[in-house]
Parts: sequence; structure tokens; C-alpha cells
Amino acid sequence: MTPFLIDTDPGIDDALALLFAWNSPEIRVEAITTVAGNVSLDAASTNLLRLLALRRPDPRPVVAAGAAGPLARALTTATRYHGEDGLGDLPDWPAVGRLPRSPDAVAVILEAARRHRGDLTIVALGPLTNLALALKADAAVVGRVGRIVAMGGAIDVPGNVTPTAEFNMSVDPEAAHRVLAAGLPLEIVPLDATRQAVLPRAGMRATLARGPGPLASRIQGFSERGFRIAHSDGAQGMALHDPLAVGLAVDPSLGKWEAVRLAIGPDGETLRTSGPPNCRVAKVVESDRFIRLFLDRLCPATRPHGTSS
Ligand code: BDR
Ligand code: CA
Repeated sequence: MTPFLIDTDPGIDDALALLFAWNSPEIRVEAITTVAGNVSLDAASTNLLRLLALRRPDPRPVVAAGAAGPLARALTTATRYHGEDGLGDLPDWPAVGRLPRSPDAVAVILEAARRHRGDLTIVALGPLTNLALALKADAAVVGRVGRIVAMGGAIDVPGNVTPTAEFNMSVDPEAAHRVLAAGLPLEIVPLDATRQAVLPRAGMRATLARGPGPLASRIQGFSERGFRIAHSDGAQGMALHDPLAVGLAVDPSLGKWEAVRLAIGPDGETLRTSGPPNCRVAKVVESDRFIRLFLDRLCPATRPHGTSS
């Protein structure tokens, strides 16, 4: 089982990505770090704790909070899409505590990188701030990890926050620039790929109906906002941005990749530029196979009472 560290800003599709990862037998999610992006850092951390309490993954990952804002600019959130709380504003989540201040995300990233070196896969589902800070703290250690798979960018397609920029890259372009400049084994999963991974509402409903229970109804509840907004924007379903990044990290053969050299523009545009490649980019996705895998793993059947794992 490959050790994974997931850096995330939950977020509806981040939540779906975590649930997918927690039920993927090829990997072990050892650590999860939070970052400000879709919502504030505190809200992202609260959402991670809510999801952990709901799903109770085994083993329980190490969790840590990271950056409360981008490296060099003010935070822009995505609450129009994800809701004020980041998870569709459901009224009745059980209360959770707070993440401790220490160890922080950078310490957890470096510890995992030191321990696992080339065996570690880092999956980044939000702005790249924590990764950039980890690079600043110890670039050599981060440089030894096996794979870094990051959801973000819009290479040959329009952006989703401006005509040319995608949300994660546009929130913290300075961090994205540092990550691209660091010579890392970087794999980018941009909107070019994630817009091929569209989940119809009916598919989600049918899957959740097969495993009814508190987990299924919670997934149904917070996903509903994602479907509603996608449909009001004219889409056929919800684009599974962050789940696709997990899917391609678990099974790279789900996509076709292109080695490219990317530069980051002032608003977080991901621009093709000349020179040796600094990452590979997922361009084409086997979307039916991915959606099947995602739905198979999203919501395991409810455990009988009295069992602990
Ligand atoms: C990305 O932006 C966020 O709103 C999503 O969680 C995803 O990581 C898609 O552009
Ligand atoms: Ca995200």
C-alpha cells in the first residue's frame, strides 16, 4: 500500500476525494493537512474533522492545519460554490473540536517525506501554499518524495474563476510558481482533465441508495449543492475535480499524460512555455472507468452494530 499525504481545503469535491481515498485499498492515507482556499483555514479544518468523525477511516490519519492564507495576497474563497461553511451549509453536523496548532502542516509534510522518501505520494487538492512553505523549509527533503499530484490549472481550456485561470492556481499563484520551479516529480490534474469526469446526479443517487445510512445521507446532503450549482451553470452533472486527482494518483493509467513546461501568470494562469518539461499534465481521462471506480468506493455499506473496523 502506497503511503499518501493529502493536502486539502474541504470543499464539497475535496470531501468526495477524501471519502474515495479512504476506501482505496492500494493506498494508506497516512496524513492529511488543511489549507485555506475554498473556505478559511478554520472552516477547512472543521470540515476535515467532521468527515473524520463521520467516516472514521482506519487507520486514522495524522492531521494538521497549515497556512491561513496565500503567500503574498489576500485569500479569495469559493463559498458561492461550496457554501458558507464549505460543505453545503447543512444545519446539523455534530460538533467537532479544533486541530492543534502543533505539529503544523509543514512539519507533517516534512516528517512524512523524511520517513517515506520516494515511496510517498503527496496529493494537493487546494492552493499550493503548504507545499511551497514546506519547500522553503527544506527543499531537499520535499524533492525526494516519489510523486506530487496536484489538482489545478487550465492549460488548453477556459478557467473557472477568470477566462484563463483555475481556482487553486489563482488563489496562490506565488506558491504555484515556487512548486513548478522546484524540480519536483510533479503531476498536474487541470480542468482539461477534470471536466471530462462529470458525475450525473442520478449516478450518485443510485450509488447512495445501495448503501443507505448516516454516511450516505450526509454525502447526499452536502453534494446536493454541488449538483444544483453545476446544473444552474448548464452542466450535465458535477465535475469531480479533486476526486479525479486522487483517482489518477491511485491509478495513473486512468489518464493520458503530456510532459510540458508550465509557467504561472500573474492571475494564476497556467501557461505553456518553452524549455524542458517541469511537470506532466493529465489531458485525456478514461472517464467511465474513473466514475465507476469512484462510485464503487465512495460509500461503503453501513457496518453492523458492535463492529469497530
Ligand atoms: C478546484 O477548486 C476548488 O473549488 C475545488 O475544490 C477544486 O480543488 C477546482 O478548480
Ligand atoms: Ca479543493
